[in-house]
Amino acid sequence: MKLQLSTWQEVDAYLKRSKGVVVPLGSTEQHGPNGLIGTDALCATAIAEGMAERAGALVAPAITIGAAQFNLGFAGTISARSSTLIALIEDYVRSLARHGFERLYFVNGHGGNVAPAKAAFQDLYGEQSLAGGKTRLRLRIRSWWELPTVDRMRRELFGDWEGMHATPSEVAITQALYPALIAAGPAEPPRRLTPEFLRDHAGDNHYDAATHRRDFPDGRVGSHSALASAAHGARLLDAAIADAVVDYQALLEEK
Ligand code: NI
Repeated sequence: MKLQLSTWQEVDAYLKRSKGVVVPLGSTEQHGPNGLIGTDALCATAIAEGMAERAGALVAPAITIGAAQFNLGFAGTISARSSTLIALIEDYVRSLARHGFERLYFVNGHGGNVAPAKAAFQDLYGEQSLAGGKTRLRLRIRSWWELPTVDRMRRELFGDWEGMHATPSEVAITQALYPALIAAGPAEPPRRLTPEFLRDHAGDNHYDAATHRRDFPDGRVGSHSALASAAHGARLLDAAIADAVVDYQALLEEK
């Protein structure tokens, strides 16, 4: 069930049987030489819609602009400041909470969104803490690539060439969704990331856009995007939906 394709009466009726809702969280940013600008939002939306079908969940509109300032050196990238994204997530949650939604599951497609989303969650819980109250809200953000079956699968398929950005996994999922839009990626692999780089820049903790463009001129950050295929993408998407449904059910059942 999709919120945008429902009437208010249908949402009212849904709330009588479930307090849960799934929210895709993405980004609009370069994804290397053959990846689509919308990759993160497209992957998150496909997984969320798959969950809605399999778990009978409601899926709310995607937040398609994320915190991605470091990619502004590449044409087409649109970034929100962290403070903007925090404010948007808080208002999004408050709006749904007002109607009676209590369990919000964010399917995340962009590493740079995790820190702002968690900051927003803490502020939302904190409003009740400061007022001496108790909230029924339970908020969870899950980046799809960290779901257990998906994580295992992408290591098996791509090893270290999964890298950090324009990953063969995310390109593969978009290839499964939009096969005609994805060209073959460059055959030559990108620069390999050092363990120190991975440690210091995890969660898309990158420097400014000019430095990022200098260091990663074609937009791939340690990811060999050309290893992607539509067949891999279909398997990854299916595994992500299955794992996310289990994770979502656990959130619904949490006391
Ligand atoms: Ni991405």
